Amino acid sequence: MIWGHVAVSAASGLDATWQALLAAAAGDAARAARFGLALDAETGWQWRDATSGDAAGAALSALYLPFIQPLHPASAFRVFGHLGQSLDGCVATDSGDACFVTGEANIVHLHRMRALADAVIVGAGTVANDDPLLTTRLVPGPNAVRVVIDPNARLPGRHRLFQDGACPTLHCCRAACTNGPPLPGVGRLDLPDHDPDSGALGLDLHALCMRLSERGLRRLFVEGGGVTVSRFLRVGLLERLQVAVAPVLIGHGRPGVSLPGVDRLSEALRPASRVFRMGSDILYELDLTEAPSPAETRDQTLARVR
Ligand SMILES: NC(=O)c1ccc[n+]([C@@H]2O[C@H](COP(=O)([O-])OP(=O)(O)OC[C@H]3O[C@@H](n4cnc5c(N)ncnc54)[C@H](OP(=O)(O)O)[C@@H]3O)[C@@H](O)[C@H]2O)c1
Repeated sequence: MIWGHVAVSAASGLDATWQALLAAAAGDAARAARFGLALDAETGWQWRDATSGDAAGAALSALYLPFIQPLHPASAFRVFGHLGQSLDGCVATDSGDACFVTGEANIVHLHRMRALADAVIVGAGTVANDDPLLTTRLVPGPNAVRVVIDPNARLPGRHRLFQDGACPTLHCCRAACTNGPPLPGVGRLDLPDHDPDSGALGLDLHALCMRLSERGLRRLFVEGGGVTVSRFLRVGLLERLQVAVAPVLIGHGRPGVSLPGVDRLSEALRPASRVFRMGSDILYELDLTEAPSPAETRDQTLARVR
């Protein structure tokens, strides 16, 4: 089922829906209520009149409400990830060119996710290649805190997000890293590595999320690249993964999701999903919190379909 076409530009119905979502994300219940979005103690943010609004506003609401719903009391944070990839699974060319794999509607979607997030997280590879700003300049809404995972402090500090002062920026490095002094005007988070027995690689991402949560940054958006999103996925921190697929074939390039392989397709991750159209791209949103339905055995599947 395609949930709707998420439009690029803001028509009036979209404007009101977006303002309601922004208010709810900021915890401003009075303002959200003026746009028809009310906070219910049991069910979270709900539209007072489910039948009002246009189709574009409904698609916007369906896509973004799960990100801004109140956290479960036992949860310290919520993490959504996103990748924009080619039909053949690349997020960039081998040389690192990713401008742009997906189209304008998906880029606007990224800005919307940033506006609703408390923090937007990227890996050092993305900053080195793209020199991104990670601001919300294409949509109304606040900038999120920018978080760069750079374990060995290899980024020189000349990148725009370390320089522009547009919003707070955190540089996350390995606690033992002595490479270079802290960057002026940029916060530094020193992090431990994952326990080597856990099988996970690199910096302890749960510790990162907890440190961000302690600073009041609980709605976290991992925007790339493939290595960073895959590491969050592998350690089970992603609540949802959005993969926007563009009708382009790169041939060979930097991979999107990369996980240890499985021998049988019955062992593959096959989470519940939703689908949204974004211009000529298709966004798949995978819900990684739902228990997968019991997989058929291979023999059962073959008996059913052959
Ligand atoms: N299409 C898209 O959606 C999209 C989005 C973003 C970026 N991109 C493109 O993707 C490319 C970059 O992606 P990428 O996958 O190569 O790199 P990346 O994910 O941006 O960065 C990977 C690097 O970040 C650091 N890192 C991330 N998580 C870590 C952890 N848990 N522990 C320790 N270090 C961690 C490591 O730095 P070290 O290497 O220093 O160890 C790692 O090699 C660029 O070409 C960019 O243009 C595409």
